[in-house]
Amino acid sequence: MKLWGGRFEKKTDGLVDDFHSSITFDKRLYRQDIAGSIAHATMLGEQGILSKEDADAIVEGLRAIEADIAAGRVQFELDAEDIHMNVEKLLIQRIGEAGKRLHTGRSRNDQVALDCRMYVKEAAREAASLMRELCETLLSIASAHTQTIMPGYTHLQRAQPVTLGHHMMAYFQMFTRDMQRMKEVFTHADVMPLGSGALAGTTYPLNRERVSQLLGFSSITANSLDGVSDRDFVCDYLYAASVCMMHLSRFCEELILWNSHEFRFVEMDDAYATGSSIMPQKKNPDVAELIRGKTGRVYGDLTGLLTTLKGLPLAYNKDMQEDKEALFDARDTLVKSLVVFQAMLASCTFREDNMARGAAGGFTNATDAADYLVKKGMPFRDAHAVIGHLVLHCIRENKAILDLTLPELKAFSPLFEQDVFEACSMHACVTQRCVPGGPAPERVQESIQAGRAWLDGFSF
Ligand code: ARG
Repeated sequence: MKLWGGRFEKKTDGLVDDFHSSITFDKRLYRQDIAGSIAHATMLGEQGILSKEDADAIVEGLRAIEADIAAGRVQFELDAEDIHMNVEKLLIQRIGEAGKRLHTGRSRNDQVALDCRMYVKEAAREAASLMRELCETLLSIASAHTQTIMPGYTHLQRAQPVTLGHHMMAYFQMFTRDMQRMKEVFTHADVMPLGSGALAGTTYPLNRERVSQLLGFSSITANSLDGVSDRDFVCDYLYAASVCMMHLSRFCEELILWNSHEFRFVEMDDAYATGSSIMPQKKNPDVAELIRGKTGRVYGDLTGLLTTLKGLPLAYNKDMQEDKEALFDARDTLVKSLVVFQAMLASCTFREDNMARGAAGGFTNATDAADYLVKKGMPFRDAHAVIGHLVLHCIRENKAILDLTLPELKAFSPLFEQDVFEACSMHACVTQRCVPGGPAPERVQESIQAGRAWLDGFSF
């Protein structure tokens, strides 16, 4: 018989059990569920709502059940619906009468809200710590490549030279924001809902603050209806995961391009690439492609849950059970993606020669050539036009700007002097871009130092 079977005259149809039961996936919440129940029972005992003996028996029984589940000794029952009732049933089987008193002053509605909040707190912390490892890898690649010149792109057209170190530090900035976002996710989840009951609180003199303290929460929810209906904190996690996946996906897209024979900026390690079943020459960047692909499913988890929630009246509705698979899927996907991405990135060999060639070959010094004429007195708009003509000429001749001789350059503007060859060299183009936040090696060095300090100071 169901734990709630009293007012029913018929057994649940097998189809319904199969359809509405969540135990197949929410068993992942068993640690949170048991910790929550232990705190609840402890408080009930302290408040005199349960006898000391019953509370102790419950706590002891729950600890034993947790050990059994962890050791794989428990067969969950579909019939018992979800993790909350499976655990309660196991408890009653194990300790009898006292077990039936655990659910005093509590509903599955505040219980599941509690479990999910604890789960999200753990997931947010885990994500931030994996992001930290990725940031460490980025710092070390950036440190090794503050002088490695490569073309920077807009519209996927070579634009102006940057360095590989500068490029890596761009991603560093993104992932530090992702870390902060995860910290905010934690803060929103860190509010304890037990005591909200089914929707309208409870008549028992619960000590909600005590439960909050026992479970390491910072505060308690302020409204019982909201306490059981709020899944914003799950959406927060899914959003933070989506943004991080978006960053990973963009990075993957670049690595896929850079690994192609058309670019050859990077050589992926054999251990992180795969072959083709038919084309013997292939070495495919499958890992990067899969992360890019999986980004879509994490977005799906976010939009799916937002859509599930949008039409729900207060307070709890069973629709909300749909939060879990989205949350679990996003966490699994994010964690695996971060772990494998970090390992793949750390194993990449960057081809400095091809990057330098790429920077030199794509007129990436055209802006600098215009700026050169500006420094010699020409208005920028005129200089832009002169260099435009010069580039057109070079394209026709299949030459770079600095392949031309000084007399050839002077034909475009008499302001060109011998010093143009130094002023528009790739090296000068990068080192002169020393505005704060720019790619000049000294600036990137500073940003690495600031990044190091930020990481060291980031506590979560
Ligand atoms: N398995 C349910 C969920 O995940 C638990 C809460 C059920 N509450 C209820 N009133 N049916 O949402």
